[in-house]
Amino acid sequence: MKYINNRLTVEKANFQRIAKRFGTPFYCYSYSKLKENINKFKENFKSFSPLICFAVKSNTNVNLIKEIKKFGLGADVVSLGELMIALKAGIKPNKIVFSGVGKTSSELNFAINKKILLINAESLSEIIEINRIAKLRNKKVKVGVRFNPNTDAKTLNQISTGKKENKFGVNKNTFHKIVDFCKNSKNIDLKCLSVHIGSQILDHKPYGKMLKAVNHILDKSDHKFEFIDLGGGMGINYSNKDKVLNYKRYNAVIKNFLKKHKVKIIFEPGRSIIGNTGMLISKVIYIKDSGRKKFIILDAAMNDLMRPALYGAYHRTLPVIKSNKISNKTYEFVGPICESTDKFTTVKKFQKLEEKDLIAICDVGAYGMSLSSNYNLRPKPIELLIKGSKINVIRRRQKHAEIV
Ligand code: LLP
Repeated sequence: MKYINNRLTVEKANFQRIAKRFGTPFYCYSYSKLKENINKFKENFKSFSPLICFAVKSNTNVNLIKEIKKFGLGADVVSLGELMIALKAGIKPNKIVFSGVGKTSSELNFAINKKILLINAESLSEIIEINRIAKLRNKKVKVGVRFNPNTDAKTLNQISTGKKENKFGVNKNTFHKIVDFCKNSKNIDLKCLSVHIGSQILDHKPYGKMLKAVNHILDKSDHKFEFIDLGGGMGINYSNKDKVLNYKRYNAVIKNFLKKHKVKIIFEPGRSIIGNTGMLISKVIYIKDSGRKKFIILDAAMNDLMRPALYGAYHRTLPVIKSNKISNKTYEFVGPICESTDKFTTVKKFQKLEEKDLIAICDVGAYGMSLSSNYNLRPKPIELLIKGSKINVIRRRQKHAEIV
């Protein structure tokens, strides 16, 4: 992404032309960035060639998942819907892992039928339910158990999952109970220990602590696991002030762990694969001067991109056409929704904007469209995939007729 002749450019896309053709707001993704992210991710951990299961919750667009699949990635899913979309994208069941604290019987039935790689259970009750279904259907089901390592991921509280007060995974006691239960079951094949301590992690140290806790519990168990699923959580740089996750260090602690434990590693990355590939392009509808600041009222809103309203998350916001005239007033970028949290960002010295100008909200490929809703009965935006100079519609804009 760069400015060429003062125009914001991704691959060979001309945003003004795209906006004219498809309307605004629109999500667009860069194929070459996606490819670069996947290759980098593989390169970072190539010494032990992990199975990389893309966390579908970060982006559920079937056409993007199809592209991701072509690089050999599997899928991490957390609901029947996500499992169905991963299969629809052509991901083989033997590369799909199913996580989540509340899988229903019908979801488990479906997953068992499809013979997916692993159902990562998160409670003893879930294991008992899997066993009941498997026995009834005379099957042997491959499962994992998600361990809660009580590790602080040093990320936002709302997206931290590995501390004992979080609902995810099981504690040591339950872990051992589950291992014993599985030993005595003819219908369960306990293959995996999984962990996932949170999202948007930029410090490698919590991962080190997590692996220490995993090592400790493995030492206390005589069960031989085939897989250790380390989850996802690798953070990206939303702002220049963010740290950069040190993959070398993370890789080093895993390699050290593997000296002792002969297992296959699984990762479940979402954000680090798709986050920085996406942009949300929006048009300024009105500019309202409120004395101290100016409200830049956009045609995109919190229903299109929830992260700022939900977590106070920051996303860089850039003008599509650059000029050197700077506004003397602070700009607050807001959407048209009837909520005061419907705002994206506040910027002190943004370039002067006019009504109808286009702006780009950056790094929205992960948890952008997948968290979108029809709040205020607003149709969901169109999604486009940019491949060089080619623009592919990968999901059309929702029509009012579909939601009214
Ligand atoms: N595996 C499990 C079990 C997860 O719960 C998650 C994310 C992932 C993998 C993928 O994590 P990633 O590599 O994308 O960090 N909506 C929030 C993020 C919630 C993450 C939930 N779980 C946000 O917009 O920041």
